[in-house]
Amino acid sequence: MATIASGMMIAPTIFSTNLLSISLYLLPIASDSNLMIIINPIEVLLWTFRRNEKDVVKLYNTLSDVMRITTGGDMLNFGYWTEETKGPLEAQNELCKIFGNLTELQNAKNIIDVGSGLSGPSILWKTKFNFLEITCIDINFNQLKESSNKIKKILKNSVQVHRLNATSTILPLMDNSLDRVLALESVQHMKPLESFILESKRVLKNNGILGLALPVVNEKINSALKLGILSLTWSSQHYDVDYIKSVLTNSNFKKIEMEKIGSKVYAPLANYYIENRNSLRKKILAKYPSYVEKILFKSLVKMKQLSENNVIDYLLVKCKKDDAN
Ligand SMILES: C[S@@+](CC[C@H](N)C(=O)[O-])C[C@H]1O[C@@H](n2cnc3c(N)ncnc32)[C@H](O)[C@@H]1O
Repeated sequence: MATIASGMMIAPTIFSTNLLSISLYLLPIASDSNLMIIINPIEVLLWTFRRNEKDVVKLYNTLSDVMRITTGGDMLNFGYWTEETKGPLEAQNELCKIFGNLTELQNAKNIIDVGSGLSGPSILWKTKFNFLEITCIDINFNQLKESSNKIKKILKNSVQVHRLNATSTILPLMDNSLDRVLALESVQHMKPLESFILESKRVLKNNGILGLALPVVNEKINSALKLGILSLTWSSQHYDVDYIKSVLTNSNFKKIEMEKIGSKVYAPLANYYIENRNSLRKKILAKYPSYVEKILFKSLVKMKQLSENNVIDYLLVKCKKDDAN
């Protein structure tokens, strides 16, 4: 492992198969933020069927901007929408708060945020619970690098927010060293899921808490037809609720609590997009071809329908490492 920037370490990344949650397959033609982004159909096929961690990195390098354009912020999750929520940023902050409360961050000290993206959630948790020592872990080096300025700007003293470029399936951390392992909307990419769960168990202290937030299917789906356009654009693993529970139980996690919050996620997010489509579309078209926006729109509409029909859901999970029992 080598230190390459203030507080940032590189650990070897093992490339296994993972893909994006709601994704469009694009290839940037240049890093200049004013240039249009074009799609490479061969990459589309490779990324759809090969699905390794390299693909996840490429896709987020390209697609994070769609999220940023539509939300105006730096978080890459769907958010939690209440009657009062005015927009995606508020929804994302709400999801982070709910997740932070669920995992009892007020009683923690050393935590890792696995699949930290642009570190938006970690910055929020650190702002609320200043005593936390947080390590942001992601396979995407660019995202970790980009989050550095933000951490410095918002948190001033960034000493206790570290960044680690590593995969969740081989965590370069010591046994029994952490109070919390958090994975906010990243578990759907992790494969094999068992490796991440066992790694979490290994690095957690006894009584430490593992928290997960992820899109799921309610039952194992055997037919791509059921998901429609989402079978292409929701291209991460489609883990089902029973499977998640069985992996946690088999790994000897205790006090497993699960809550389905899909109705607070998909339909309100889709409604927001539908209501604001004209203005959001304009912003997206400044950077992406128009069919990208069309696919995004159709995916959101399908997502809403599947959520209302109980095919897809969004799961919050809390469980404990309790080796005493
Ligand atoms: C949907 S984003 C969520 C980011 C952040 N948690 C948030 O809410 O803003 C998923 C993130 O998980 C990361 N990721 C995917 N697979 C991973 C893995 N196996 N190990 C570590 N990070 C991973 C991706 O690079 C991406 O940054």
